[in-house]
Amino acid sequence: MTTISIPRGKYHIWTVGCQMNQADSQRIQTMLDELGWEEASMEQANLVVLNTCSVRQAPEEKAHNLLAQLKRAKNERSDLLVALMGCMIGNQKTIDALEKRYPHIDLFMKVEHADILPRFLEERWTLISGAGCLDIEFMPDASDETTDDEIPVFPDLPTFATSTSRAGKRTVLPMAITPKPGERIAHYPTKIEPAKASPSAWLPIVLGCNKVCTYCIVPYRRGRERSRPMDELMIEARSLVDKGAKELTLLGQTVEAYGLDLPDQPDLADLMTNLSEIDGLERIRFMTSYPRHMTDSMIERMAHLPKVCEHLNIPVQSGDDAMLKRMKRGYSLDEYVERIERVRELWPDITLSTDIIVGFCGETEEEFQHTLDLLEKIRFDVVHVAAYSVRPGTVAARWEDDVPLAEKKRRLHAVEEIQGKIAFELNQSYVGKVEEVMVEDTNMTHGRQQLKGRNRGNKLVFCPVPDSTSSEGQRVFQPGDFVHVRIERATAWSLQGEAVVL
Ligand code: SAH
Ligand code: F3S
Repeated sequence: MTTISIPRGKYHIWTVGCQMNQADSQRIQTMLDELGWEEASMEQANLVVLNTCSVRQAPEEKAHNLLAQLKRAKNERSDLLVALMGCMIGNQKTIDALEKRYPHIDLFMKVEHADILPRFLEERWTLISGAGCLDIEFMPDASDETTDDEIPVFPDLPTFATSTSRAGKRTVLPMAITPKPGERIAHYPTKIEPAKASPSAWLPIVLGCNKVCTYCIVPYRRGRERSRPMDELMIEARSLVDKGAKELTLLGQTVEAYGLDLPDQPDLADLMTNLSEIDGLERIRFMTSYPRHMTDSMIERMAHLPKVCEHLNIPVQSGDDAMLKRMKRGYSLDEYVERIERVRELWPDITLSTDIIVGFCGETEEEFQHTLDLLEKIRFDVVHVAAYSVRPGTVAARWEDDVPLAEKKRRLHAVEEIQGKIAFELNQSYVGKVEEVMVEDTNMTHGRQQLKGRNRGNKLVFCPVPDSTSSEGQRVFQPGDFVHVRIERATAWSLQGEAVVL
């Protein structure tokens, strides 16, 4: 164990983007809380962490705006440190460009290297603050934990000053620690699962992506696929459940690729089988699915695990073969449809969501029509639709972005309209049924407790519970409770009903 002494300060974590980013931010928050740091507004914080998203231009622009604001703030304040994480961090070239543009960024950090935070703060914040120190026992050194054949947690980590040897010594912190070629880092920093888990918690199981969809920046920024070892995930999952999680969502860009890079090649269903053994864990969800990695055996085994919920998020992106080729999605439309049909055969009551991009390079009206046809054919429960946004550095960035913005918007609305109709029709089939709902949120309206939660198929369900003052001893619900709801009404977006006692 290394003893690090760090004066306390205030932090602010700004997060945009996907569930992976939210999961990562929760873990960074745990680290800072454990260091005795206090959460504050961005204006008051001494450490601002920006957890960024690059999937589309808009979230990246928000981060650029904040970086400009923070640059001004730093000119006025000497007690401010800025750290950047998430998808805006890519390889050294991306970091160099950002560093040139924003020399006030103090730390570029990938989540796998978040163990660096205490050392970074000790080094930089101690100098700035000169405040009273808090001695803590923190993370083991990488060398304490790794054996020769294990992957190092910190390649090239320089020697840092510790509380006993700091006097007069300044270490230069690397602006980012990037693995050397061939060096795969699969471990999350140790012991940093969220301090208090919400009833539905995220569990990132595979980082990065090995696909190279031509429009997508993720593989360039998140690197190649690295699965986290099963034993590490089991420890983290147990800890999350101990802290109150009832539902875990396993995260990965192509989540069925889990384990392909691990020595004994466990698969997603093996992981779910082990997770199912955890007492107190009620539901297991997973995302994002990729059709080619979903074998029949995997689907069958998942379908037979009672805790695994009947919901699949399986992006198709387009309903046209030529477009799928341009996107380099790695499957044909027939293959995709065949997988969906197989899933529906093997997994009764499965609900489906998908992602669609409209207005990708060269998308003709006919190609777009094929996407609408696919929506009518498959009848997804939920569709996430995005207008194509050029991502510099991707293959498609070299092609002409030739669908005008107004046309992209028109196509986006056309998808939303058709999908709204389909979802409305599908949701009517729930009316009269009793659904098991895990409560996510509660509030009081007009003296009645209103519950918001999700059924196993991931549909949003709202229900008021009977007025607790009118019937004595009426149960008051908390997030994480399970309630059975008889569905009385349905819209395209949610189901509504009354709580029932079975
Ligand atoms: N791993 C997922 C995708 C992750 S990115 C998969 O297998 O598809 C999340 C979503 O953002 C994608 O599904 C896609 O619909 C959207 N997206 C990615 N790049 C985009 C771009 N350049 N423009 C618009 N939407 C994009
Ligand atoms: Fe992106 Fe395709 Fe991977 S959309 S995250 S490159 S599967």
